[in-house]
Amino acid sequence: MTTQEEQTRTGLRFPAGFAWGAATSAYQIEGAVAEDGRGASIWDTFTKTPGRVLNGHNADVAIDHYHRYREDVAVMADLGLSAYRFSVSWPRIQPAGSGAINPKGLDFYKRLCDELRQHAIDPWLTLYHWDLPQELEDKGGWPNRDTAYRFAEYAAAVHDALKDYVHTFSTVNEPWCAAFLGYASGEHAPGRREPENAIRGAHHLNLAHGLAVQAMDARRVGGCVNLYAITPETDSERDLDAARRIDGLQNRFFLDALMLGRYPEDVLADLPFDKDFIEPGDMKTINAPIDVLLVNYYSRFTVSGAPGGAQSAAAAPTDSGSPWVGSEHVSFVNGGRPVTAMGWEIDEGGLVEILTRVAREYPPIPMVVSENGAAFEDVLDEGRIHDRERLAYVEAHLGACKQAIDAGVPLEGYFAWSLMDNFEWAWGYGKRFGLVRVDFETQERLVKDSALWYAEIIRQNRRHEPTDS
Ligand code: FCB
Repeated sequence: MTTQEEQTRTGLRFPAGFAWGAATSAYQIEGAVAEDGRGASIWDTFTKTPGRVLNGHNADVAIDHYHRYREDVAVMADLGLSAYRFSVSWPRIQPAGSGAINPKGLDFYKRLCDELRQHAIDPWLTLYHWDLPQELEDKGGWPNRDTAYRFAEYAAAVHDALKDYVHTFSTVNEPWCAAFLGYASGEHAPGRREPENAIRGAHHLNLAHGLAVQAMDARRVGGCVNLYAITPETDSERDLDAARRIDGLQNRFFLDALMLGRYPEDVLADLPFDKDFIEPGDMKTINAPIDVLLVNYYSRFTVSGAPGGAQSAAAAPTDSGSPWVGSEHVSFVNGGRPVTAMGWEIDEGGLVEILTRVAREYPPIPMVVSENGAAFEDVLDEGRIHDRERLAYVEAHLGACKQAIDAGVPLEGYFAWSLMDNFEWAWGYGKRFGLVRVDFETQERLVKDSALWYAEIIRQNRRHEPTDS
């Protein structure tokens, strides 16, 4: 046994065929925003609006993945990844958000998928990771029902062109963020603070998911939700009610819709608006059968219904409102756990909790953890990044995955967020989530200790798999 192997022996044994992945998204890594016919997205507009993104950063260049994708796939292959989750930039494919398809946009993703397959890495394609074409926002954005139909058209075009290349399609990444950070708190693009429109947006994002699943017909397709473990601060009635509300808006509003074809009655009752935007047949569409549920998990919230508490678990970097439509009075309390550089509490037990909960409370469905990871202040030390805290975070959460599998959860893969340091939305380049460091000046890639450790865990697990699998 080599020293490296001894150091990384954790007893983390996963079933054969488990997907060992890492994730990214288009706007956060690609750059090349004005190349090969790409149209503008709401993030192009948002980043150019003063005060929206910390230090005025934008992703015009990002980490230049559009030009360096071959080098990046080579890094993935060195790490031994068996799966890579990336997103397609809608305005690259349909610059105006509807109508003409830009073949050069599709070509980029074909080349990327080819490169992945040549290295035996399965492409997991996400259709929407928040970069709505600006022209669709100009027509009302997600609060406008028509956007959902445009999304289904776009999904069909991507599916037709890439179905022979892609292992698994997924629809909307984290509809909670797209709706509530985009249209209620305004922390994300398009930066609107319109609570009622945020709810409409949330419904139309769910509808877009269902319409796209139908439009892609019979391919392996999944939906993606970001789930939180939630604890009431005390067992007082008001804290229990706070926990019910936040669980309702964060978790059940999306899970119940996708998996059960209905919205939770208590959540609808918390929302002081007409629900006339939910049209007959919508819930059945949203409940269209999927093959896999993609679960993003980062943290636990401890919440209180007492007045005067903090607005949010981790303060936004820019001036923004509350995303908690209808439950703005709920406060987020320090749960006493260590935090990451985002201020997010570290709680791997929460991951076991949510995975077992989904398995217990919803119809049976294979799941993957499609994002999980942590930002920390990395320090360059003689050409190395000894990111022990990130390594410990991933190790603990992989342990949680294992625990969930042992408890009977059909968990089929894990995708670290993120493969590489990148543009972290309202935080600009201020937060590093990568297993691989990127020098934002020179674009040099450097594998961090956490990545070397992850590679060794993958190697130990895949060693026992048949080579032709
Ligand atoms: C998730 C997003 C991803 C990244 C991580 C840190 O909510 O899907 O793009 O920003 O958080």
